[in-house]
Amino acid sequence: EVYHEPYRPQFHFSPKAHWMNDPNGMVYVNGTYHLFFQYNPSADVPGNIHWGHAISKDMVHWKELPVALYPDSLGLVFSGSAVWDKNNTSGLGKSGHPPMVALYASHSVEKEKAGRTDVETQSLAYSTDEGKIWHKYKGNPVIKNMGDRDFRDPKVSWYEPQKKWVMVVAAHDHIDFFSSKNLINWTKESEFGQQLGAHGGVWECPDLFPLTSGNTTKWVLIVNINPGGPNGGSATQYFTGNFNGKTFTPDNSSATKWADFGPDNYAGVTWSNTGKRIIFLGWMSNWRYGDKVPTSPWRSAMTVPRELSLKKVGGQTLLASEPVGELHAITSKENSWANVKVNGSYDIASKVSAANGKFILKLKNAQANDFSIVLSNKKGEQVVVGYRKQDNQYFIDRSKAGQVDFQLDFAKTASAPRLLTTGNIDLILVVDAASVELFADGGLTNMTAIFFPTQPFTGLAIKSQGSLNVGKISYAKVNSTWN
Ligand code: FRU
Repeated sequence: EVYHEPYRPQFHFSPKAHWMNDPNGMVYVNGTYHLFFQYNPSADVPGNIHWGHAISKDMVHWKELPVALYPDSLGLVFSGSAVWDKNNTSGLGKSGHPPMVALYASHSVEKEKAGRTDVETQSLAYSTDEGKIWHKYKGNPVIKNMGDRDFRDPKVSWYEPQKKWVMVVAAHDHIDFFSSKNLINWTKESEFGQQLGAHGGVWECPDLFPLTSGNTTKWVLIVNINPGGPNGGSATQYFTGNFNGKTFTPDNSSATKWADFGPDNYAGVTWSNTGKRIIFLGWMSNWRYGDKVPTSPWRSAMTVPRELSLKKVGGQTLLASEPVGELHAITSKENSWANVKVNGSYDIASKVSAANGKFILKLKNAQANDFSIVLSNKKGEQVVVGYRKQDNQYFIDRSKAGQVDFQLDFAKTASAPRLLTTGNIDLILVVDAASVELFADGGLTNMTAIFFPTQPFTGLAIKSQGSLNVGKISYAKVNSTWN
């Protein structure tokens, strides 16, 4: 499939047509990365939610497959996860064909309309042909509603020390932990979070996994929240701590931690069955305006897949995310310039043969003084990504980016703290037709934002207040993955 519509991402996954939100059921099976997603196959607005399906060998080139899960008498197929049940603990496999098992939230629109609280339950579906044909489990739901109006987005993983499955489910303002030997019968183990973290909105789409970097291993609990993000609307917070198969104990921390401070990275969770490598993917939009963005015939894309690691900063353990190495395969040879002195403005577009607006730009060892990177077009529209020394913040300003008035808050400048307090700045910008992803200081502060200029951005320059030394600037064009 080759797509040429305005704003069509060229190396981020988007469905051919219609509405998409959260990534779901991400699991790696026999060399294939599966990505399911919240999908309305009949319109470009939310509602009538199914699970769409796409597969990839490298998380970069995607092939969209037929819809995997359809609504049924229990409701719409809301978010959830999938695992590769290779030892057939569920008994749902066939000999020689272990099942892929999906756990998802059933959302009853009828009950919702009737004003009931037991709207959402957890259900199971399985496939014995690696994801092509899906069967709903006859005993659904496998977890009943226990009184929380919002009770959804089960994320399941294998807990090796006790040889059992663990599930985290969002329950309005906290996370419920369950465990199971067979993915079918679940026991509630604990609750977490009523008094911790951000509570400006409903807790959704959690994830739980151990992460090892060097000789540190921590458990990471991801909790998406909507609204209440650091720049308004939807965002992904996380906790680091310990997990013993039953309860999650967070590290001491005063500030809420965010996996991405930008406006457009939501409902992100990680791939299952990728070993020690932990790879995160988010929905590159925001519930504030996701259904109003000016794209057609589809709405929304995913972020680039991001590899997670842990970093120690000032006694705190933080999550760092960086674009997966697989992107190299679609990235052209890099142009680079060493020891650059930016005096007011340093133009990059004129130095590169293919300023096609899809690229990866890296700044290494830039002085921590005010500067910005400006994407622009001939109509004077622009997106500005920068750093402000005064308050030690990164920011993205899309107020003059073309189409911005489809929603009130869209034009607001987003900012994020630089979590490193000293030293020079390293940053990576990943830019596609309608998005920019900033990874600063080795992925400690990240910001993702979408944009809709009336003409593509082909200009690219670094601007400084006064002079700015940059150790190395490199630019590489990214090729389209649709073919
Ligand atoms: C998050 C979310 C989930 C829910 C799904 C519905 O974006 O609200 O909590 O399962 O979207 O599409």
